[in-house]
Amino acid sequence: MAEIGTDIFAAINHLENGNLVAIPTETVYGLAANAFDNEAVAKIFTAKNRPSFDPLIVHTSSFDRVSSFTKEINDNTYKLAESFCPGPVTFILKKTETIPDLVTSGHSTVGVRIPRHPLTQTLLESLEFPVAAPSANPFGYVSPTTAEHVNQQLGDKLPYILDGGPSTVGVESTIIDASEDQVKILRLGGLTLEEIEEVLGRKVDLIKTSSSNPNAPGMLFSHYSPGIPLTLGPIDWESLEKSSNTFGVLTFGKQNNLPKNALEFCLSKSKNVNEAAANLFRGLRYFVGTEVRNIYAEKLPDEGLGRAINDRLTRAAATIV
Ligand code: TXA
Ligand code: MG
Repeated sequence: MAEIGTDIFAAINHLENGNLVAIPTETVYGLAANAFDNEAVAKIFTAKNRPSFDPLIVHTSSFDRVSSFTKEINDNTYKLAESFCPGPVTFILKKTETIPDLVTSGHSTVGVRIPRHPLTQTLLESLEFPVAAPSANPFGYVSPTTAEHVNQQLGDKLPYILDGGPSTVGVESTIIDASEDQVKILRLGGLTLEEIEEVLGRKVDLIKTSSSNPNAPGMLFSHYSPGIPLTLGPIDWESLEKSSNTFGVLTFGKQNNLPKNALEFCLSKSKNVNEAAANLFRGLRYFVGTEVRNIYAEKLPDEGLGRAINDRLTRAAATIV
């Protein structure tokens, strides 16, 4: 198992020596390596069992530092970065030669993120290179929101996990392509559509997920699997109650009269969508190792962070296990 701690110097040391370190961010934990070091980056793909066609996001401490490995940043991007960096957002930008092709799966663009978690901010400030970091989970599985989640699934694949407590946002960053006038969202996440449109003063496009979409190479439709079949939609309590099996329910809002054969994880009793996002991946993991063989999840209102939560639940439901 990996060592878990809060020692930034240990994390720096490992990263400088080409090793993997799991880092806390406000969205989810990332599996980090020196983005300029091909061999170190290759370790990420191996540890996650990630296909090489799925590009990685590169993280650094401030948007000022981004120009050292990207080019042609336009006004839309600067406007959004000024409002939302550091934060739960990733920009797709043209890369320079300094970023190895392995990081971007051969694409000429690179995803760039400035996380706002204080521990990781300090770490990134101290490093002379940016770090490539996907979510720190085996490929296709639920993202980790605590150091313990990382240790459970990848603990034997890395020497150190920097523990920054539970991730406060709880869903991954929103991925934006602002390279053209018509700004596109490639993945919904911690920054909402509404917030983006407010800053730009106009509508943005939501790109539909497709594994063959060249703009969103790794955004495979089935993902975020807890390893237990999940059904999304209004819960048919009456017919479930008649079943002889125990089933899992992922609910939003306080439930009265839960059937005896239901195991509940409530995302937010008070229907607070921020709380629901922060609890989402913990909720999906909650049923693992229990007698539950089927999970039923309620859809949230399709607005604000609710959109990103519904997106993750839809993908979890699309996974055949
Ligand atoms: O919040 C987050 O974004 C977390 C934390 C650790 O920063 N990271 C994360 O990384 O979610 P990952 O690898 O699990 O998801 C990154 C997504 C992938 O679906 C990938 O296809 C897409 O970003 N991506 C990366 N580079 C891209 C590029 N150049 N063009 C289009 N999509 C890209
Ligand atoms: Mg991921």
